[in-house]
Amino acid sequence: MLQRPRRNRKSEVIRQMVQETHVSAANLIFPLFIVEGENQKTEVASMPGIFRYSIDNLLREIESCMKLGLNSFDLFPNIDEALKDKYATEGHRDESLYLRAIRAVKKEFPESCVITDVAMDPYSSDGHDGLVQNGEVLNDETLEILGKMALAHARSGADIIAPSDMMDGRVGYIRKVLDDAGFTGVSIMSYTAKYASAFYGPFRDALNSAPKFGDKKSYQMNPANQREALIEAALDEAEGADFLMVKPGLPYLDVIKLLKDNTELPIAAYNVSGEYAMIKAAVKNGWLNEQRSVTEVLTSFRRAGASAILTYHAKEVLLNKWL
Ligand code: PBG
Repeated sequence: MLQRPRRNRKSEVIRQMVQETHVSAANLIFPLFIVEGENQKTEVASMPGIFRYSIDNLLREIESCMKLGLNSFDLFPNIDEALKDKYATEGHRDESLYLRAIRAVKKEFPESCVITDVAMDPYSSDGHDGLVQNGEVLNDETLEILGKMALAHARSGADIIAPSDMMDGRVGYIRKVLDDAGFTGVSIMSYTAKYASAFYGPFRDALNSAPKFGDKKSYQMNPANQREALIEAALDEAEGADFLMVKPGLPYLDVIKLLKDNTELPIAAYNVSGEYAMIKAAVKNGWLNEQRSVTEVLTSFRRAGASAILTYHAKEVLLNKWL
């Protein structure tokens, strides 16, 4: 045998020498849940170790993350049911919990990277990402609302706007709204290939944002489709997206690789709430080694081609020095 691949695996030094992909703190984005009130920190039952923070505690949490070298945060609000309406007006009200949180974080930590979520579901009395009429989610009417949300986020100091709603044409619409208002420097991280997935369950628990009727299949993608992701990618690129995201992560590594091979834009992968819950449940039962399974999962996103990884494991991997 002239070729014996095992020679390059024979010691730790050589294994590290030939390692093809690495994960570092710079690749990680930490999603954080926000709730109204003071000194609040409530654990999400289906996501052990993940909490909803009031703004004061959010600032403390971000400070401790930044000490670990974790500087990028994606914020999601848990909104009082009484504040929700059909038009998700709380999504762009100047004194809303979400906008106050963005302003507080950027004031306290101007060097942090704040990513904001644009979609109607946390604020919608229908629990859908778009405007509902006669049981249908309207597209073009929703764009106007998303544009108002994006503009409010930019005014509050957001570094990157991340539309997660899957309406057609929203990247171009939001880009124009931002540019017309002078926010040409605010980035867009588009949820390009966002699938209608079972793995969002724990996130909807965290925000109490599950749809009040039906499902999200008329706007989120069919998990059976790969080629359709290329259509979404081409549109987002043409409409001015700065990042293309694939979501969920683990069940869609092929889609990450497909986009990587078909665009020059950086790819982001969202390691979603259900993926986190699966690992935590298995670890709790003693069925998986936590450090090894978490680092293997994060490495797989980098290997598939993701530059950025949105993951609820972000803080623990740095705190425990697992990378
Ligand atoms: C909603 C949104 C969802 C997530 C991020 N933004 C859920 C959904 O589409 O129902 C899921 C994130 C996760 O599961 O971690 N616009």
